[in-house]
Amino acid sequence: MRIAILKERAAGESRVAATPETVRKFSALGASVAVEAGAGASASIPDAAFADAGAQVGPLAATIKDADIVLGVQAPELASLKGAKPGAWVAATLDPFGQRARVDEYAKGGFEALAMEFMPRITRAQSMDVLSSQSNLSGYKAVIAAADLYGRAFPMMMTAAGTITAARVFVMGVGVAGLQAIATARRLGAQVSATDVRSATKEQIESLGAKPVFVESVAGIEGEGSGGYATEMSEEYQKAQAELVSSHIAKQDIVITTALIPGRAAPRLVSDAQIASMKPGSVIFDLAVAQGGNVEGSAPDRVVEKHGVKIMGFSNTATHLAADASALYARNLYNFLSAFWDKEQGKPVLDEEIGNAVRLTQDGKVVNERLLG
Ligand code: NAI
Repeated sequence: MRIAILKERAAGESRVAATPETVRKFSALGASVAVEAGAGASASIPDAAFADAGAQVGPLAATIKDADIVLGVQAPELASLKGAKPGAWVAATLDPFGQRARVDEYAKGGFEALAMEFMPRITRAQSMDVLSSQSNLSGYKAVIAAADLYGRAFPMMMTAAGTITAARVFVMGVGVAGLQAIATARRLGAQVSATDVRSATKEQIESLGAKPVFVESVAGIEGEGSGGYATEMSEEYQKAQAELVSSHIAKQDIVITTALIPGRAAPRLVSDAQIASMKPGSVIFDLAVAQGGNVEGSAPDRVVEKHGVKIMGFSNTATHLAADASALYARNLYNFLSAFWDKEQGKPVLDEEIGNAVRLTQDGKVVNERLLG
């Protein structure tokens, strides 16, 4: 059983799919691990650290040769997979809806592609959930980046020269990233409020010491669909939410938006008129910018200034914390493969529930029902 870790080739990607820790753990299961030279450099993991952990470190051709499993952060190009065993697994975040043509190529190439972002949201898969591990760090980074851009301090400070008031931070969308954004902003001393369409988040917001801001006037709305994800809300709800947000947002210094609906463009939460109502110098960080954006006019990887308000967002937020993001991502992959390790066969054998959820291609065909439906 040979596991190959390739250097990421996507622009701006600085994470890596394995760490010396996971190399050691895979070796302990009886696998041999090959790492492409330079794969960990941008995540502060030198080749020597992988070699010390027992990995064979070398050029692409030697790394991929006879691989049974290829691990990646983003989807590897077909060209990089030349030399892997027929039917080899390719486990990475594959962006199956956005990069559908590549999924077809994996099928044609005879690979078994496993999309890590399709991991089901069930208790036993929590430690394998790459969306959670990366979103958590992204929520943290969003607050740090916004604080850096903000020309004022976050905590209240009473100094001999006078008092500085605490920043007001409003978090829109309280999933994994939003919860971490609330916690981070609180640690920095801000006054934090938050909103979501899922009423279950109200208690979570309060437990972190923040103030929930919720639509109460539209009855019968739970906002929660399958797997704990949000559903698209009614027009009546959206109108009530916009009114509520308008009066609240005008008083905020920092807004962090994180709202996503699986399989759809990100919902628009902040309009140009609402931006105009904010104080000059305020900052909005749009964590959904790569999925279409929650904020009118936001653009990936640059600061847009509108009405004196700075709006920013990264196309890939986790890559800005490459070392920690890689460590957690690599553990997710190890937790996934090791949970299914069959000692007798010396390789992982997936069960139906998780296997069918993540497997996109097999025996030359696209087999995932989310892609076939
Ligand atoms: P997400 O990234 O899909 O969305 C972020 C947040 O935006 C969600 O809380 C969603 O309700 C909210 N949102 C959507 N539309 C909105 C709107 N119009 N206005 C305001 N907010 C809006 O969600 P994420 O972070 O992936 O988590 C969703 C849920 O899944 C959470 O309850 C989380 O605890 C649960 N979860 C369960 C796991 C497991 O059991 N293995 C693993 C990870 C998360």
